[in-house]
Amino acid sequence: MRLKDKIVVVTGAGAGIGKSIAEVFANEGAIVLASSRRAVTGQPVADQINESGGKADFFTCDVSNEIDVKNLMEQAEIKYGGVDVLVNNAGVNFVKSFTEVTPADWDRVINTDLRGTYLCSWYAVKQMLKKGSGSIINITSVHTKACLPGASPYDAAKWGVVGLSKSMAVELASRNIRVNALSPGLIDTKIWDDIKAAAPDIDTCMAFWKANIPMGRVGTPEEIAYTAVFLASDESSYITGANILVDGGMTSQLISNEPYESEVLEGN
Ligand SMILES: NC(=O)c1ccc[n+]([C@@H]2O[C@H](COP(=O)([O-])OP(=O)(O)OC[C@H]3O[C@@H](n4cnc5c(N)ncnc54)[C@H](O)[C@@H]3O)[C@@H](O)[C@H]2O)c1
Repeated sequence: MRLKDKIVVVTGAGAGIGKSIAEVFANEGAIVLASSRRAVTGQPVADQINESGGKADFFTCDVSNEIDVKNLMEQAEIKYGGVDVLVNNAGVNFVKSFTEVTPADWDRVINTDLRGTYLCSWYAVKQMLKKGSGSIINITSVHTKACLPGASPYDAAKWGVVGLSKSMAVELASRNIRVNALSPGLIDTKIWDDIKAAAPDIDTCMAFWKANIPMGRVGTPEEIAYTAVFLASDESSYITGANILVDGGMTSQLISNEPYESEVLEGN
């Protein structure tokens, strides 16, 4: 077991990638403090882990609400002796053209995706400093390498999280606290369901994404979770300030197809 008895807080653990991180971390021996805005989604995740022999507890937490975050971290210290690993996973996706973005839209996305990461980290780091070590994993996005039209608050938030990760990494390295960003590509969660539902037909949808993801498929939440396990464990003991892309090659590809046959490819 790679995370035996580590106290791990996972935010947004009620669904998608966060749920998978909670489950995979528990399988690796972690005591998972699964937090979610709503008990109706978060509590069953903790219950299911406990029923299958793992250890988990559920806490209600909206990461954009400082009182919730403070309560979550206080409970982590009182009940479990403090946080060893924090996975800042909670996030909202967002699609609207830049000129349509309202200040309320901006605040909602930034408050969850960027400020929420700052708030959880701020409280967790105080406990990690007392414990003498820690690992923070910030779930960002391939949007931290290149952007899509219509995602300006999301892009700003996720790029901000990478900056925060690097800043914290250099400041906290001497205190044995590592901070890394983990950037998923297209992963099979509600986001992928929404993309498929909006497509004219499934064949067109699959052909488009196959061309745009060199590995030819979307990723699974478990593939993100196993990378997070690596970043949480001592196996990554010399990695801090990194932004690890888990994207099937998506951000390594300049364009998906040659528009015409190119002699340059033949070396002429
Ligand atoms: N699925 C993808 O393709 C993909 C790609 C890149 C990045 N990501 C990132 O991965 C993370 C998880 O996304 P997902 O795909 O599992 O989506 P999801 O919608 O299934 O899960 C997001 C979770 O965050 C929670 N959440 C939202 N706002 C919150 C708040 N204020 N406080 C607490 N929890 C809150 C939601 O309730 C949900 O449980 C997000 O940060 C997202 O930006 C996902």
